[in-house]
Amino acid sequence: MVDHLGEQFGDYRLTRKLGGGNFGDVYLGEHVKDKTPAAVKVLQERLTHSEDLKEFINEVRILFRLQHPNIVPLLDFGIERDIPFLIMAHAKGTLRQPKGTCLPQDTVVGYIKQIAGALQCAHDLKLIHRDVKPDNILLGPTFPVWLSDFGIVSIAHSSRSLNTQIGAGTVPYMAPEQIQGKPRIASDQYALGVVVYEWICGSRPFKGTAIEIAMQHSQAQPSSLCEQVPRLSSAVEQVVFKALAKDPKDRFTSVLEFAEAFALSVEQSKLRPAHQESEEQWVHEGATHCEDGGIKEAIEASNHALQFDPSSADAYNNRKLAYDNLKRYKRTIGDYDQAIALNPQDAVGYYSRGIAYYELKQYERAIEDYYQALTLNPHYANAYGGRGLCSYYLKNYWQAIQDFDCALWLDPSITWFEFEREDAYSKRGWKP
Ligand SMILES: Nc1ncnc2c1ncn2[C@@H]1O[C@H](COP(=O)(O)OP(=O)(O)OP(=O)(O)O)[C@@H](O)[C@H]1O
Ligand SMILES: [Mg+2]
Repeated sequence: MVDHLGEQFGDYRLTRKLGGGNFGDVYLGEHVKDKTPAAVKVLQERLTHSEDLKEFINEVRILFRLQHPNIVPLLDFGIERDIPFLIMAHAKGTLRQPKGTCLPQDTVVGYIKQIAGALQCAHDLKLIHRDVKPDNILLGPTFPVWLSDFGIVSIAHSSRSLNTQIGAGTVPYMAPEQIQGKPRIASDQYALGVVVYEWICGSRPFKGTAIEIAMQHSQAQPSSLCEQVPRLSSAVEQVVFKALAKDPKDRFTSVLEFAEAFALSVEQSKLRPAHQESEEQWVHEGATHCEDGGIKEAIEASNHALQFDPSSADAYNNRKLAYDNLKRYKRTIGDYDQAIALNPQDAVGYYSRGIAYYELKQYERAIEDYYQALTLNPHYANAYGGRGLCSYYLKNYWQAIQDFDCALWLDPSITWFEFEREDAYSKRGWKP
């Protein structure tokens, strides 16, 4: 990229480079007469076509209509030697945090309210930001937070600096529909959801190469925030995950609504009874929720218990029951792994993990677990039954029949073994 240090753009001479981004470089500028500072964004592309010039001017005129205390004030714009530039108020810095830094929830509430206010002002004018990310959230001198680079994606497009959709915005923060080249107002809410996720737990929901991240935005569920952040309420997580919904229709109806729901969930989480001060109390609460069918609450209580005691087998037990209920078997398996590591002599742990593998149709792995359960407890009728079922699905009907025989011998009251055995016989086409 060309270095413009020392050059004059409009009434400003560029004195220092502040940084560079997807669309150009930002310099500290000094007014040639009154010496006041400003930030000068010099775009990458040259505007040589009159069409591009018109488009650029139109786009920037729209930006001048955007007046809000949380939007960085635009002071001027122009084209110098075919190079388009924007002049904006100079900020103290950005809200980009060092990797791994988490922000207190109250701080996040303060930031999200201001940014949502700025975005709502643009959304009311049917404008989409398209590039919400911490680097574009600046610390202003009077109001704490300024959103910057409004519409920079379209401006840069009008100057033809980019022609790939994946470059139009910043992939780690980009909504699935924006990645597909169909940004809409709700795409800004998604990006803000990613920013909030990152502020809460210190890392973004998806990692990898640009293509890998893009795929995950479309297909993958972000990791649970509650499992990463001590004492985070599941209500807060639910609000963030709603903003991160894959389908824009499943997000909040407006970005302001997202900010309000987030603030409310944080407020309410402070009103939670403060009496759960020990692992046992949280385990007890988790067990009660499991019984009442309060699945999300059971997971939350178990997470709290595990923060007190990461080796609490009871907490893992409650949580995996809850995951089972949600049919999140991969997570269940993770918890069974922990429970088995803590208590390797527990036949029930192996048996239960076997069921989770069975639900995931990983029959060979399920059979291994049932085998372990039977080694620890040779009278475990259900483990024979479970192994029989897996053998049945693997078309090993003879083994299935033998297992159902053992299961029935150990516990004749469990009638489904008999039905399954009949089925295995009919598949095999032979009955003694
Ligand atoms: N108004 C401003 N006042 C002070 N520093 C700024 C201002 N605008 C930008 N900067 C600094 O310049 C850096 C580069 O900004 P730039 O907008 O070019 O890149 P970016 O925000 O990282 O990416 P993108 O091009 O997607 O916006 C920013 O990270 C910030 O440190
Ligand atoms: Mg920027």
